[in-house]
Amino acid sequence: MHATSNLRTLKCISLLCMILIVSYLIRNSLVSLNENHSRNLSTTNFEGSIDLNVITNDSFQCVKTKLLLKEYRTTVCVHNIRKDTDVSGLIIRNGIWEEHLVTRIVRILSMNRQLSFIDIGANIGIYTMYAAKLGCKNVIAIECFRPNVERIRRAVQLENVQNQVIIMARALYNKSNAYLSLRTNIANNIGSQRLNAEVQKNENDSLVVQTIRFDDLLPVVRKRDIREAIIKIDIETSEHHLCGTGEQMFSQINIPFVMMEWANIKEIPARANLVQEFFVKRGYIPFKSVTCEPETEKDYRLWHTQDIFWIKKTHTHLCKL
Ligand SMILES: *[C@@H]1O[C@H](CO)[C@@H](O)[C@H](O)[C@H]1NC(C)=O
Ligand SMILES: *[C@@H]1O[C@H](CO)[C@@H](O)[C@H](O)[C@H]1NC(C)=O
Ligand SMILES: *[C@@H]1O[C@H](CO)[C@@H](O)[C@H](O)[C@H]1NC(C)=O
Ligand SMILES: *[C@@H]1O[C@H](CO)[C@@H](O)[C@H](O)[C@H]1NC(C)=O
Repeated sequence: MHATSNLRTLKCISLLCMILIVSYLIRNSLVSLNENHSRNLSTTNFEGSIDLNVITNDSFQCVKTKLLLKEYRTTVCVHNIRKDTDVSGLIIRNGIWEEHLVTRIVRILSMNRQLSFIDIGANIGIYTMYAAKLGCKNVIAIECFRPNVERIRRAVQLENVQNQVIIMARALYNKSNAYLSLRTNIANNIGSQRLNAEVQKNENDSLVVQTIRFDDLLPVVRKRDIREAIIKIDIETSEHHLCGTGEQMFSQINIPFVMMEWANIKEIPARANLVQEFFVKRGYIPFKSVTCEPETEKDYRLWHTQDIFWIKKTHTHLCKL
């Protein structure tokens, strides 16, 4: 009697154990599936986004940047200054480049935590890295030149901000998935290449880049649940593609502020007109980048400013921060 009861207890216990073990196994495999899933969502799942966990073998220097607003400092990885006096040279010397513009972005993002940041023509990622380091949850860097992309990726790894950053290794253009050659614009400024002609794919040539339309970011924006974002764009006279290919992005998410390099594109009237019409039609006002005051001059050729801010009428307080 006693023995049978013991035996039954034992059976019960081993059955319970088995159930526990099986459920543990099932739960664990579900958990690991989920982990894979979410890791892919944040890194390699989007067309054109690169895997932020890949370690590059290239050797290059990474430096800590200047402290901005007494609070934010980050890391960027630079080029050999002989090839890049303009950007890397300045960063090595001063810890920063385009300080007043970077500070503007840092100020806006740090005081509006709901905003995402889209950095078009990210170069070696000084804007992207400050944005990520200050805690912006969704930073999308679009950069077509592979030596730059490798440097941003290394900086992202050093600062451990992989979950916040998406790097699209693409050039903004009027067509998706075309290949373009780059041509050097300014000697000693490796990041200043302009888009040249459509060519055949060549994965061995870092001067052949793949293209993206701005609306191609819609799946990324949807998966990350991005509703509001600010943009910095500096792509050597190709800025009009933001407007020509971004109809849906601009209607589906709120984009109150766009920082755009203006000095070069304003020399190409067809492109500058397209940009101006696009923003004016959508209720944006041009603001001077140095003072952050409205540009009262109607004729954009007379705007004596390297960069222009397009700010929505409803969001001009972004200048007052
Ligand atoms: C992530 O996605 C890529 C492409 O969609 C796939 O090849 C890879 O196996 C996935 N990785 C994981 C860990 O699921
Ligand atoms: C880095 O180098 C190792 C060993 O030479 C090689 O196996 C690996 O594929 C390289 N990684 C990349 C990203 O090229
Ligand atoms: C895209 O731009 C190129 C070069 O400016 C032009 O030749 C081509 O017609 C454009 N394609 C489309 C679809 O707009
Ligand atoms: C790129 O390099 C690889 C390895 O050297 C080679 O097999 C491939 O054919 C090259 N591709 C092109 C388009 O030249």
